[in-house]
Amino acid sequence: MADSAAGPVDLVVLGGGSGGYAAALRAAELGRSVALIEKDRLGGTCLHRGCIPTKALLHSAEIVDSINDSEAFGIRATLDGIDMAQVHAYKDSVVAGLFKGLSGLIRSRGIEVIEGVGRLVSPTAVSVGDRVVTGRHVVLATGSRPRSLPGLEIDHERVLTSDDALTLDRVPASVVVLGAGAIGCEFASVWRSYGAEVTIVEALAHLVPLEDESSSRLLERAFRKRGITLELGARFAGVKTTDHGVTVSLENGTTIDAELLLVAVGRGPVSAGLGFEEVGVAMDRGHVLVDRELRTNIPTISALGDLRPGPQLAHVGFAEGIYLAERLAGGNPVPVDHDNIPRVTYSHPEVASVGLTVAAARERHGEIRTFTYNLAGNGKAQILRTAGAVTLVALPDGPVVGVHMVGDRVGELIAEAELITNWEAEPAEVAQLIHPHPTLSEALGEAHLALAGKPLHVHG
Ligand code: NAI
Repeated sequence: MADSAAGPVDLVVLGGGSGGYAAALRAAELGRSVALIEKDRLGGTCLHRGCIPTKALLHSAEIVDSINDSEAFGIRATLDGIDMAQVHAYKDSVVAGLFKGLSGLIRSRGIEVIEGVGRLVSPTAVSVGDRVVTGRHVVLATGSRPRSLPGLEIDHERVLTSDDALTLDRVPASVVVLGAGAIGCEFASVWRSYGAEVTIVEALAHLVPLEDESSSRLLERAFRKRGITLELGARFAGVKTTDHGVTVSLENGTTIDAELLLVAVGRGPVSAGLGFEEVGVAMDRGHVLVDRELRTNIPTISALGDLRPGPQLAHVGFAEGIYLAERLAGGNPVPVDHDNIPRVTYSHPEVASVGLTVAAARERHGEIRTFTYNLAGNGKAQILRTAGAVTLVALPDGPVVGVHMVGDRVGELIAEAELITNWEAEPAEVAQLIHPHPTLSEALGEAHLALAGKPLHVHG
């Protein structure tokens, strides 16, 4: 092994996904020298196997829904079919365009990209092939991959991960989706729009169980109306592959036959065999342990994104990357607050939220105030023919601490809700703001008007 000829760089970043490349970009912007090590393609899960390609599938599913619902809008149109090859070409072209842009951006900032599998070999060095790259600081950003359940074997033919589902060359006739988190609900939504028979199996009592119960219930109502079968509070017992597909059995005795089983029971950290333990990095079940400032137990090594315990979201990775680059460049930035992160599940309808659920707010603060505004009163929602609601959670005579929304396109509204909760705005302050008419954003305005004691389009 040869030492890096140029001597240590300021920052060695292991992993070029959302968190890793954001750290690299910000560090370079701050004048630091950066080596970014990536074994596959810059952009990581989010760009190649996650956020971006799944949202492209969801958008093509939305077009199917529009065609199928067109008569309600006075348009006669019939669906001729779904050309999966073309759907994938569209999805892949979106990814390719963004990948080209990202690669150019990283090049333009003078970041050295090293292709290959990096392995931590000391508190300040990572080996890639026969090269050793040394740095004053090392950032571990190797992300996550789909995980399964003990004894549940993924054959990538009939039992799939989300990676397999993204490249499936056909519309399945029927699917069992195991797990009703964001991945399960988004694929269930896409496949149902494409015409598949879909059953969701979830061990907990509700879809999207991390969300406020009111949002889960609205999504359940909408999914049932769309013809999706829900097996809630049902634990997976086993799967048998058959000539025609799979037979999934549940602990409650139910069996379900389907063409495919999608396993969407969470994602696990990518850390095995990468030298972390050997160098002495403190870990827990494969996750690298960090403090609020993303420091590991070794002073020169930090970690971020899906690799540490906590939320596995690309936008959190971006924020942590920026934060870390600034801290390692000697600044004093504010650590990323995991309490106030916007979350969106991009199903039809969408679920979006920020801050505390009603239950969590009660537990933390005792007495709270809530208000639910039904989208039935919102002009734009009626034009779009979407059902849903906005629920606010506020402290008595205090700020808004949680916002929960369900409905088509509500994901585009959550950034305003994030400003509200992060700035600890009081309902009366938000009620002063003018929301353009007719937009979905008025639902947020109306809900705050009501909570401030001056409801407008709401029955008292
Ligand atoms: P998840 O952890 O959010 O959901 C997995 C679900 O599977 C849970 O509700 C769990 O109760 C259920 N489950 C586990 N074992 C089970 C069993 N034996 N039987 C039945 N149900 C069982 O994981 P998911 O959806 O795979 O996503 C992984 C990560 O990626 C999450 O952190 C998620 O937030 C993130 N992600 C975010 C997206 C977004 O923001 N739109 C999109 C896709 C993923």
